[in-house]
Amino acid sequence: MHGESALSRRDFIRHVSLIGLGVALPSPFARRGRLQELAALLPYAKDASHEGLFWNKIRRFFRPSGTFINLENGYCSPQPMPTLHYHIRREKYINAWTSMYTREQMPEAMESVRTDLAAFLAVDPEELAITRNTTESLNTIIMGYPWNTGDEVVIGNQDYGSMVQAFQQAQQRYGIVVKEAAIPLHPSADDEIVESYMALCTAKTRMVHLTHLIHLSGHVIPVAKIAQRAHERGIEVVVDAAHSVAHLDYKIPDLAADYVGASLHKWLCCPLGCGFLWMKKEHIPKIWPLMGDTGTTATDIRRFEHQGTRPFHSIEAISRAIAFHTMIGGARKEARLKYLMTRWVSKIAALPKVRMNTPWDQAGRNSAIANFNVNGYAPADITAALFARHKIFTVAIDHPAIQGVRVAPHLYTTVKEVDALTDAIREL
Ligand SMILES: Cc1ncc(COP(=O)(O)O)c(C=O)c1O
Repeated sequence: MHGESALSRRDFIRHVSLIGLGVALPSPFARRGRLQELAALLPYAKDASHEGLFWNKIRRFFRPSGTFINLENGYCSPQPMPTLHYHIRREKYINAWTSMYTREQMPEAMESVRTDLAAFLAVDPEELAITRNTTESLNTIIMGYPWNTGDEVVIGNQDYGSMVQAFQQAQQRYGIVVKEAAIPLHPSADDEIVESYMALCTAKTRMVHLTHLIHLSGHVIPVAKIAQRAHERGIEVVVDAAHSVAHLDYKIPDLAADYVGASLHKWLCCPLGCGFLWMKKEHIPKIWPLMGDTGTTATDIRRFEHQGTRPFHSIEAISRAIAFHTMIGGARKEARLKYLMTRWVSKIAALPKVRMNTPWDQAGRNSAIANFNVNGYAPADITAALFARHKIFTVAIDHPAIQGVRVAPHLYTTVKEVDALTDAIREL
């Protein structure tokens, strides 16, 4: 397995350098596999809007259907070709080796992915569990926390439904009290958001649950500031980072959280069913794993990976997805994603008929995702019109806090495609 992996890594570098980017790759970089340096060398990557060169080449790594413009990349992302080909190759390999692989090679392969992912997130591998997705990661915490009757938690009114339901179930099962902070759509300062959470905290509050990048609107909330205030009061902080990992250029310690869960099939472009759960070492023994586990020690993060037989080839592909992301560069990727959002929103935000549900022009609060509404339309009517008339796929959000259309471009989205959206919204 190890030999095969190392060979594949070299293949991948060659593929990226020769086919994808058309750059003569200095061989020492290829030998050392330092894709980050390669990205820095790219003469094409002038800026986020430099469509004709760098970003067109990046698009060629993806194979979108071509029959519609996909501006709904919030649910999941496509794998770029190097990741997909590796994924398929590993599936074929495992299909040939079957139990010989799972018994003799798989444990080392999983540890190798843990090491790569931990380096990418800047965390200790011994604090990192590989899961299937954010739902599993955060349910592990919410269902596994040693609750006492009357314990209080503060969640947000724009948190993802599965987490809200998990807390509601914990309320029914353990008698905890769940309070909901109302997050302003267009905050004037970080403190406004911080206070919406802190005002609900009492001496009984055990946990605050934060959605770093809100899926409904693309709004990025000041997680570290809230975490700092919560910690001052002895309250633990759980972060849903489903949309922020590999979308915003940050590292897990920047969140100052106790627990973080995320999905890697969103902005990291991994195969479906890849995620992680990170938690501070000191918390590992007190959280009950979702799947019964008495075989590992209480301090071992692997007790949260007792999931039975899994698609190991998908997990192995995480390392390839990280290499692709790193080749582009986190900061460059974030800038491009925000450029795509700003390009269409800046042209329609001032139209009298349009209402933005995203703090899109506030640096530090925005992302690739934005949400808009048009007076006189239900969100579902807008998405239907965009698709029927222009083959533009978006998603209608009809949530108590936000009603509008969510638009989520990705790395393979072109400027022409977001311009088509601008024209289509003007026509409504
Ligand atoms: C904010 C947020 N959290 C969690 C999830 C759940 O992700 P998954 O289905 O990968 O568990 C999503 C999915 O879109 C999300 O937007």
